[in-house]
Amino acid sequence: MSSNTKRIVKIFDTTLRDGEQSPGCSMNIQEKLEVARRLEKLGVDIIEAGFPASSPGDLESVKTIAGIIKDCTVAGLCRALEKDIDASREALTTAADPRIHIFLATSPLHMEYKLKMTADQVFEQAAASVKYAKQFCSNIEFSAEDAFRSDPDFVCRVFGAAIAAGATTLNFPDTVGYALPDEFGARIRYIKEHTPGMEKAVLSVHCHNDLGLAVANSLAAIENGADQAECTINGIGERAGNASLEEIVMGLRVRKDYVNADTRIDATQIYTASRLISQVTGVKVQPNKAIVGENAFAHEAGIHQHGVMANRETYEIMTPESIGIPKNRMVLGKHSGRHAFEERLNDMGYTVDAETLESVFAEFKALADKKKVVSDRDIEALVMGVSAAVPETYKLDHWAINTGSALGATAIIKLLHKGGDARKQVAVGDGPVDAIFTAINEIVGKKPELELYEIGSITGGSTSQGESMVKIAFEGRHWNGRGVSTDVLESSIKAYLSAINAMEWDLAAGASKSPRREPLREGGV
Ligand code: KIV
Ligand code: ZN
Repeated sequence: MSSNTKRIVKIFDTTLRDGEQSPGCSMNIQEKLEVARRLEKLGVDIIEAGFPASSPGDLESVKTIAGIIKDCTVAGLCRALEKDIDASREALTTAADPRIHIFLATSPLHMEYKLKMTADQVFEQAAASVKYAKQFCSNIEFSAEDAFRSDPDFVCRVFGAAIAAGATTLNFPDTVGYALPDEFGARIRYIKEHTPGMEKAVLSVHCHNDLGLAVANSLAAIENGADQAECTINGIGERAGNASLEEIVMGLRVRKDYVNADTRIDATQIYTASRLISQVTGVKVQPNKAIVGENAFAHEAGIHQHGVMANRETYEIMTPESIGIPKNRMVLGKHSGRHAFEERLNDMGYTVDAETLESVFAEFKALADKKKVVSDRDIEALVMGVSAAVPETYKLDHWAINTGSALGATAIIKLLHKGGDARKQVAVGDGPVDAIFTAINEIVGKKPELELYEIGSITGGSTSQGESMVKIAFEGRHWNGRGVSTDVLESSIKAYLSAINAMEWDLAAGASKSPRREPLREGGV
């Protein structure tokens, strides 16, 4: 099925909504903005920036992203409720190209047990909500939640009514990841052929990965006429995740001989986008993950290495460079100047303002004094620490730890508060990390629950920097923190402090608002 003129499939990225919604993947507003900028650079067509009605924080972050991103459509998710549509409308006011995305379930299970609505009521509400939203926005997407487990003819009727009311994209989700590729492809063809008015609209798919088939199902749908695929970087998302953006994009590109469709994605930005998501969420990419896993281009077996040396194509169907994995480059160290450093940042896909460059370069110099060779991974950690951080309520001034096999652990921590005062605390603990976190809690006057504490090394070897990851919860909300240092205890202090600063920042911003996500119930428009 090869042809020279390829159909262009739209990439609808939902990393910031479905991805962020999954446990352990929450991001602060700075991180979301950093991700949105990266998605714009990657060339996605639509960024689903959040679910504005779900919390004041979500509304705020969609608003911020909508005000800054100009080269992509920015979408806000809503239930089929006027108050949700109003929240999205408010969040998207400054978007260059806004999209209101409404969803309502159409499967018998969801209608009876979740919505407690009849099929006729769902039909009416779908059309009414689209009509309401259409007054404010020309670009409306309607999703039939759990579409794959719904009666196909009912979905066609609901989609037809949504199109008649003004929907321009109709999304067919496999919400629970139940479909198999052949039947999913056939279903998409059926929906395309039997929905009244479908020729005027875009048919989209949104696949979850519960059976590990989200990408296969998305590709089958594209082959059968879907013109938009919804996906996330690294496949993050509810439960087993969403279809992975990089796998869909490279599936189409590598098999261009077979599939008559492509996307507008700049594939050379894939690797840095994947690294960014893993950094900000703290969710590591499994080593054998397709396209972006650490081992995706590693050839261990001698027979493979021999083949690759003779001709890469023996065991490689795409090159690492095609997804932006850099070739071996000049080593950076303490003699490297600002110019070489800035060039390396650009090569790695980072564009930073002068102020950020100044601070990252200073940190690079300090690190290069301690470490002979500074790797790309080290640089990435430095940039993330500076560019995606929220303003610091507390800054580390100094620390000292006393520990040993025969002693308890004692930590002395001194922090500078943004108000100007210095706060010092001594605490004992069940080990040095416990002592550190206890001392910080006492200074801050809050005792968040520690949900995760992880420590790893950025590169191999004993001179590697330690990288700590912390997740904390307080009053039902969650924050991540990262810290990097050549000293593992200092990396733990920095990680905990960055989570505390994210918490303080959010709590201060939301002081006059309800900070919690409201429980999402659906009802009449
Ligand atoms: O999985 C799903 O059905 C969704 C919809 C809101 C599109 O995420
Ligand atoms: Zn979903």
